[in-house]
Amino acid sequence: MSETSLKICCIGAGYVGGPTMAMIAKQCPDIEVNVVDINESRIAAWNSDTLPIYEPGLDEVVKEARGRNLFFTTEVSAAIKSSDMIFISVNTPTKTFGIGSGRAANLEFVEKCAREIALHSDGHKIVIEKSTLPVRTAEAVKRILNSASNENASFDVLSNPEFLAEGTAVEDLLDPDRVLIGGESQEAIERLADVYGRWVTPASIIKTNLWSSELSKLAANAFLAQRVSSINAISALCEATGADVDEVANAIGTDSRIGPKFLKSSVGFGGSCFQKDILNLVYLCEHFGLPEVAAYWEQVVLMNDYQKRRFSTAVVKTMFNTVSDKKIAIWGFAFKKDTNDTRESAAIYVCRDLLEERARLTIYDPKVGLEQIKQELIYLMTSEYGTLSEKHRQLIDDNVEVANSAEAAASGAHAIAVLTEWDEFKDVDFDAVYRSMKKPAFLFDGRNLMDRCKLNKIGFEVYAMGKS
Ligand code: UDX
Ligand code: ADP
Repeated sequence: MSETSLKICCIGAGYVGGPTMAMIAKQCPDIEVNVVDINESRIAAWNSDTLPIYEPGLDEVVKEARGRNLFFTTEVSAAIKSSDMIFISVNTPTKTFGIGSGRAANLEFVEKCAREIALHSDGHKIVIEKSTLPVRTAEAVKRILNSASNENASFDVLSNPEFLAEGTAVEDLLDPDRVLIGGESQEAIERLADVYGRWVTPASIIKTNLWSSELSKLAANAFLAQRVSSINAISALCEATGADVDEVANAIGTDSRIGPKFLKSSVGFGGSCFQKDILNLVYLCEHFGLPEVAAYWEQVVLMNDYQKRRFSTAVVKTMFNTVSDKKIAIWGFAFKKDTNDTRESAAIYVCRDLLEERARLTIYDPKVGLEQIKQELIYLMTSEYGTLSEKHRQLIDDNVEVANSAEAAASGAHAIAVLTEWDEFKDVDFDAVYRSMKKPAFLFDGRNLMDRCKLNKIGFEVYAMGKS
């Protein structure tokens, strides 16, 4: 296997697999990278001018490499056969059934990949876990691979978790804080390190054993989420005491041991990783007989649930204890700015609460459309109640609509709820928006994005997280 003839396959063309492989292909023109997925429409989108995911800068990266050494295809078995390195980058959602339901990771898709690899492999393959997985998953992957019927097939398994954040994926991939590679075979670790070494300095490539690598990914996400929950816990205390959460965050963040990042109070963290990975960590702790450790980490998720609920309760209470038949403009539905990803977005929970209070919602998000919004609401209501009742379907059908601008959403509304920190919301003509709204005009800033003084002067009644 010479470096110039290296062939890479990645199973799973999602938010992680797509951008990561596009970057490898861009940085290593001599390496052939095949990204495969069973989802035909997703692959078609990767091959089109409208990529299936929105990430600043990603279009350019894909355009540079696609058709040269980057290919998107549904031919899973052929790609496995011809590759030297195979990344597993499929989804690992929280289980919704059976043992560990609501906590453990559903490893069905990972296991299916391992079986596919075992079935189609001939010769030596380096199999790399890219998806975030419970500690010791590599053990199961190895056992499945080693059951391959082809006697010529042999495998090394590595863990190489991805630390990119959505919205900044391209920068994160181009200049990562670190690349983490865990494994047993030094030779396999060095092979993968050589790929990243084309553009990442050796000092930033951390090599560990398999289990440290698997656990580090869960721990990193747990620590990050814990910071958000910590500042959100302080935001509730700020509201009660007259302190200002941004001032507190600034004051504590200047301590170099604490640092300024990830201290932005919000309506709650979302995304496909934080909640899932912490619940996974909690499940692992319980499994290994560590209930105190499990309870400690679970509190991070419970605090996040509290923060989302606290926000919707504040909306209802502030608006004279009823939002029934009132139009509320929802600004932003994605879980953070610069992405079209809505998985676990706080907006889903807040919208669900407001719908249950019989509010009429007009939603504007620059990258998220009506179908996706409805699907998320239906998914949440179905998973919470076991089934989607006629009442809930009706609530969604009758009371959720989208607008094509923030201003249009706010026109005629009793209130605006800012749920995603899209930059364009700061540049809205608030005088005109105020004039177009019912009075009193409320603005609930779930991201502390707006200039409160300016809005107050215009006449808005403003509620912001952690501001008294
Ligand atoms: C996260 C990790 O950052 C990344 O390393 C890992 O690979 C995947 O999970 P991501 O979920 O894409 O990335 O976004 P991130 O920027 O971490 O934000 C997660 C959530 O926390 C968002 O909803 C964001 O709005 C929220 N957040 C973040 C805050 O509310 N306050 C903050 O200060 C930071
Ligand atoms: P992530 O955010 O971790 O990238 P996504 O859900 O965005 O997760 O992407 C995972 C992708 O993996 C999906 O497009 C899904 O179709 C794909 N996938 C899941 N199982 C398989 C499989 N056995 N073979 C090929 N692709 C798969």
